[in-house]
Amino acid sequence: CGIVGYIGDKQAIPVLINGLSKLEYRGYDSAGVAYFSENKIVVNKEKGRLSVLSNKLNGMDIKTNIGIGHTRWATHGEPNVLNAHPHINGDSSIAVIHNGIIENYLKLKEWMIEEYGTDFKSETDTEVIAHLIGYFYDGDILEAVNKAIDKMEGAYAIGVICSKEPDRIIAVRKDSPLIVGVGEGENFIASDIPAILNYTRNVYLIENDEVVELTKNEVKIYDKFGQIVNREIYKVTWDASSAEKEGFEHFTLKEIYEQPKCVEETVSRRLDNDDYINLDGIKISKKDIENINKIYIIACGTAYHAGLVGKYAIEKILKIPVVTEVASEFRYSDPIVDENTLFIAVSQSGETLDTLAALREAKRKGARILSVVNVVGSSVARESDDVFYTWAGPEIGVASTKAYTTQLAAFYLLSLYMGKVSEKISDDEYFKILNELKTMPNKVKETLDSSEVSKQLAAEQFNNESVFFMGRGLDVYTAYEGSLKFKEISYVNSFAIPAGELKHGTIALIEKNTLVIAIANQENLFQKILSNIKEVKARGAYVVAIAQEGHKEIEKVADKVIWIPKTLDLLTPILGIIPLQLFAYYVSLAKGNDVDKPRNLAKSVTVE
Ligand code: G6P
Repeated sequence: CGIVGYIGDKQAIPVLINGLSKLEYRGYDSAGVAYFSENKIVVNKEKGRLSVLSNKLNGMDIKTNIGIGHTRWATHGEPNVLNAHPHINGDSSIAVIHNGIIENYLKLKEWMIEEYGTDFKSETDTEVIAHLIGYFYDGDILEAVNKAIDKMEGAYAIGVICSKEPDRIIAVRKDSPLIVGVGEGENFIASDIPAILNYTRNVYLIENDEVVELTKNEVKIYDKFGQIVNREIYKVTWDASSAEKEGFEHFTLKEIYEQPKCVEETVSRRLDNDDYINLDGIKISKKDIENINKIYIIACGTAYHAGLVGKYAIEKILKIPVVTEVASEFRYSDPIVDENTLFIAVSQSGETLDTLAALREAKRKGARILSVVNVVGSSVARESDDVFYTWAGPEIGVASTKAYTTQLAAFYLLSLYMGKVSEKISDDEYFKILNELKTMPNKVKETLDSSEVSKQLAAEQFNNESVFFMGRGLDVYTAYEGSLKFKEISYVNSFAIPAGELKHGTIALIEKNTLVIAIANQENLFQKILSNIKEVKARGAYVVAIAQEGHKEIEKVADKVIWIPKTLDLLTPILGIIPLQLFAYYVSLAKGNDVDKPRNLAKSVTVE
């Protein structure tokens, strides 16, 4: 979910709507605002996209200088108007917006029903917060919020207004992102920086357990003991326009096409004149690496697939065993972690709660925490010992594209870097990989130049009800990621499987004209994948292969081939995914789906 709040001289509603439009990537099941009208709180909320709400508000000519707004990704309770935020207490004197989950909300709810006969209108955990604050209110909203959060367990960022004190907004951060935008004669709260960037570049990054009090002219930050905190202003240097579409029909397409630039930024800015890697956020020494006997790479979704490639690269270069696991499983698997474990978290947003929770568990057990993160100053980055920032810029499309290829580039650089520091890689090997890595921006561009093939394929195949992706070695991970894009934006029932495993069960699903995408980019496994293609062809499949230029043989077995430029097998994941991103994009487009905001998903999932 995304939250935003405004207090100042401007009309608050347009500011809130503008802010929410930049936060829609965090959820778009419903949207709502709360504001003052004649010293009473008024709430307006609608099911569905923000546009439904903004169209309604446009016709209303609301005059208010303070308000809070919310865009929701449903957790507790179905996405309807009743469950939409803001939520209010019984006498409508308190309104609350919330991102996160209150774990003990049922207990609190039962207690309030028994004790006070509270009448709850929604199924949400957030409504409990509004009633709780209302219950503690005794003339000071800051004090009431403090008392309420004492009772609340879980993760949350909240924004609160109170009709009896119409010159204050109170906000709290606990394990869910929150920033404050500082203006002149106006102040803002938001889940993320883009929401306020049209108005100010001066930001306070709020820490866990901090409570913020905003008036028009002042922002006070309190720590958990109620002491004032002096926080330095963080000046945002990147441009609001990097979060705009710049002529592309969708953010997703724009971001696919930004990949040459993003990979270039991620790699070249880290190289000195002699092509040695400088990583200012990483302080790992030769001795540190010698002490590491196990590495965990933990992430969710697309970042997890990057982590699978990362495992391969690190093991190849460092010869230390690596386990890559999805974050939501890691924490509950009683993982074997100690001071000799290096824990690598991978996350575009740096706010994914599953990943954060896993990170904290590893930290508790003594691991060193290194993270590969896109959003500067995000929670994952802040809680890590070492950080590698992927310089992809803001990624808005819900399906991750440029963050993925930059995460891959990050893993190649990281393993080369650690290989060099620990003297485990020879100069020959180092420069062989690095020199090829430096050609990736151009090769990604070349791959994008042949986008017509993917477009045409989408035109032919968009009606398919299912699609299989298969590969061997590193290509398995490209298959996983390609398949995920298809699920996310094309709504096609897609499977990805190691090609050698197909015959052990899944091949039973192959029949005449089943679409199979075979990733065949591994030189050393080329003959093997050819055999697997023949196996599915023999059962009637229509096979589209992705292969490195020059491997003409594949044209004889596959129905269609999409070529990628020749490179080292190790680096093919960066190129192999490009045609699949484009294919998924054009299928999504042909089906009339909402490419940038696919149903049921949110870009940043800050609940477990
Ligand atoms: C969500 C998104 C995915 C993303 C995953 C991890 O589920 O829908 O696209 O890959 O979170 O996000 P992160 O920000 O941690 O990379």
